[in-house]
Amino acid sequence: MATRAEIPPHLFVVFGATGDLMRRKLLPALAQLGSRGALRQSVVLGVGRSGWDDARFRTWAREALKAAGPKAEALSRWGETCLFFQSVGQGRPEDYRALRARVEALEREFEIPGNRVFYFALPPHAFAPTVEEVGRSGLHRGRGWARLVIEKPFGLDLSSARELNARIHAYFDERQVYRIDHYLGKETVQNLFTFRFTNPIFESVWNRDRIDHVQITVAETIGVEGRRDYFDHVGALRDMVQNHLTQLLTLVAMEPPAAFEPEAIRNEKVKVLRSAVPVRREDAIFGLYERGRIEGAEVPGYGEEIGAPSRTETFVALRLEVANSRWQGVPFYLRTGKRMERPLSQVVVRFRAAPVVLFGPGCRAESNVLVITIQPDEGFDLYFSVKSPGQPIRFTTERLHFRYAEAFGPLPEAYETLLMDILLGDPSLFVRSDEVEEAWRLYAPLLVDRPEVYPYRAGTWGPQEADALLGREGRSWFPA
Ligand code: BG6
Repeated sequence: MATRAEIPPHLFVVFGATGDLMRRKLLPALAQLGSRGALRQSVVLGVGRSGWDDARFRTWAREALKAAGPKAEALSRWGETCLFFQSVGQGRPEDYRALRARVEALEREFEIPGNRVFYFALPPHAFAPTVEEVGRSGLHRGRGWARLVIEKPFGLDLSSARELNARIHAYFDERQVYRIDHYLGKETVQNLFTFRFTNPIFESVWNRDRIDHVQITVAETIGVEGRRDYFDHVGALRDMVQNHLTQLLTLVAMEPPAAFEPEAIRNEKVKVLRSAVPVRREDAIFGLYERGRIEGAEVPGYGEEIGAPSRTETFVALRLEVANSRWQGVPFYLRTGKRMERPLSQVVVRFRAAPVVLFGPGCRAESNVLVITIQPDEGFDLYFSVKSPGQPIRFTTERLHFRYAEAFGPLPEAYETLLMDILLGDPSLFVRSDEVEEAWRLYAPLLVDRPEVYPYRAGTWGPQEADALLGREGRSWFPA
C-alpha cells in the first residue's frame, strides 16, 4: 500500500459526471484534495451522455463548486488544468472505443503511467451495462493499475447483487473493486471501531451480559431532493438500511480483528452479518411521510413532493438479532427516516440495570446509556446516576460528554477520506462482495413480503407503530 504522501499519477474517470453525486460530493472533494496539493498528478475525465466538451464541463463544474461554498476559488486554479470531458452518447461500442482513445491520449499528454480509476457515479441500473462496455473496450487493461469504484445500492436484492458481482468479476478482480458506503468515510463511524478496541473499560462490558439492547438511528429532515426517480424505485430499506445502517451495525457488533488490516477487518464484519438472523416481517415497520412542519416551515407529503401517489417507504424501523456468543438475546433496533423531527445519526447502547435494588421501590436508578452521535454535533455522552443532595435518597441522571468540534475542530468530509483511500489502494473502508451479499440476505424477507406502510406526519419521529416495536418489549427509543 502506498503512503499518504505517495499517490501515484493517475487518471480519474467519472461515469455519470454531470449528475447529482458529482456535483454535490465528488467534485467538491476532488477540488479540496486538488487544491491542498494531495493530487499532484491527477487528471479527471468526466464521462456522460450529453455532448459536452471540456470547456462546457469546466463551466458546469465552476458553477457546481460555487454552490458548494468557498471551494470555487480552489477549482479555478486546480480544475482549469485537470478537468476534461468525453461524451459516450448512447453508449455504443464505438463510443467506448473513442473513450479509450481519449484516455490513452490524456495519459500520453500528462505522462500518466496507465493507472486508472473508474468511478461509477451512476444510477444502479446502469452499473452492469457500463462495466460490460468498459470491459469489452479493454479500458480496464492499461499499463498500470485499474480500480473500479461503485456507489450504492449494490443490486436491489441478493440475486441481483450476485449477478452484478459476477458481471464485475468477469473483468475486475475483487481486489480492484471499491464498493462505496460513504458512512464508512465518516470519522465518527471509523471511531466506533477504534473506540471499542482501545478502551478496555468499554470493551470489557461490550456483550450480552452487560448490554440490554442497541439502537441505531439515522434521521434526516430532508425529503427526496430532486432524486424522485431513484428514491421512489428503491425506498429507504435499500437506500439506507441495507448499507449505511447495516455497516454501523457491523462496526458496533464485530469481534476484534486479528490485525488492523483490510481483509482481517472485513472478515470480522462478514461474520457479524452471517450470525445475524434475517429480519421477520413482524419485526419491521415501514412508514411514509405526510404533510407536516419542520423547524417551523410547512413541508409537503411524499406524494405531493414527487407529484404522484406512492407506497414507497421513506421510514423503516426494525428489530434484528445477532445470534453469536457475544450478542445472543440482545436486540438491535435500527431506524431511519426522511422528513423527521431533526437530523440525527446516533448509536445508543443501553446497559443492563444494576443487579440489586438497594434503596427500595420508587428509588431506582436509570441504567447507564452510552450515546455515540455520528452527526451532527459529533461526540459521546455517557449517562449515569448520581445521588441528588439531601434526603430522602433520590437519583438523577447526569452525563459525561465529549464533542469532536471542541477537541479537534471541523472533521474531514467522508468523500475526501474515501477518495484518498482509493488512490492509495486501501480497501479497508470499502464493502467486499460477500459483505454486500450477506447484507441483502438479512432483509430478503422484507423484500419478498413487504410490511405494511404506515403514514407519519413530517417533522415527527415516524409512525407510532415504530414506538410500539420497542414498547412491546418494555423499551423506548432514545431520546424518549
Ligand atoms: C445517501 C442516500 O447514501 O445518504 C440519501 O442515498 C441520504 O438518501 C444520504 O440522504 C445521507 O447521507 P448523510 O451523509 O447526509 O447522512
